[in-house]
Amino acid sequence: MGLLTLEEIKKNKIFDTFIEMADRNFKTLGYKEHGRRHAEHTAKVTSQILSALSFSPEEVEIGKIAGYLHDIGNAFSKRFHEEQGAVFVLRNFVKMGYVDEGIRIAKIIGQHEKRDKVPQDPVLAAVIFGDKSDVSRNRVRKKDFKKFDEHDRVNYACTDTKILISNKSKEISLYLTVDTNIATAFEYFQIFLSRFKFLKMAAETLFLKFSLFINEGKIL
Ligand SMILES: [Fe+2]
Ligand SMILES: [Fe+2]
Repeated sequence: MGLLTLEEIKKNKIFDTFIEMADRNFKTLGYKEHGRRHAEHTAKVTSQILSALSFSPEEVEIGKIAGYLHDIGNAFSKRFHEEQGAVFVLRNFVKMGYVDEGIRIAKIIGQHEKRDKVPQDPVLAAVIFGDKSDVSRNRVRKKDFKKFDEHDRVNYACTDTKILISNKSKEISLYLTVDTNIATAFEYFQIFLSRFKFLKMAAETLFLKFSLFINEGKIL
């Protein structure tokens, strides 16, 4: 079998069907967007990081696939979605004849929310960046500003997200553009503190220093 690619995986409709199902579940619960847009964002950033760090094309594709499928378990339930997603993906990959790739991707999916420990796999670390960097206005579903909780508000306040990797200074920087009329940089930092700590650990796994900029000002 040749190189397994995300494009190949997308041909099997079962994955997109379950990603859509996961997003529908979240919509019913009033949670932010977790559908194909979030899957594409995660795959794109994962690929950007691994390519910039000169990982092999095989590793980049594994990262893209794991990034794309990381939240598929939400089709079953939010709680334990990592484990449920891992089992679902492994089963389907085995059925398709991709046993080794299935095991590797299932492991990454199963660990993508483990905020209490430094990720061991650099591809997992890149997926964590793809996933946790996705804070944006587009993900908030509520239309009525008065009904926003503080998470909706800080997500809505973020109008642009950018990741830059410098191989020279061994740095990975997350740039957020935040509308401070909606949420202050401090509120933003407060709400997402555990997320930023997680990103710092993921950066360590990639042998990079993590920097955070809000409206061009260096926060971390
Ligand atoms: Fe998740
Ligand atoms: Fe996610």
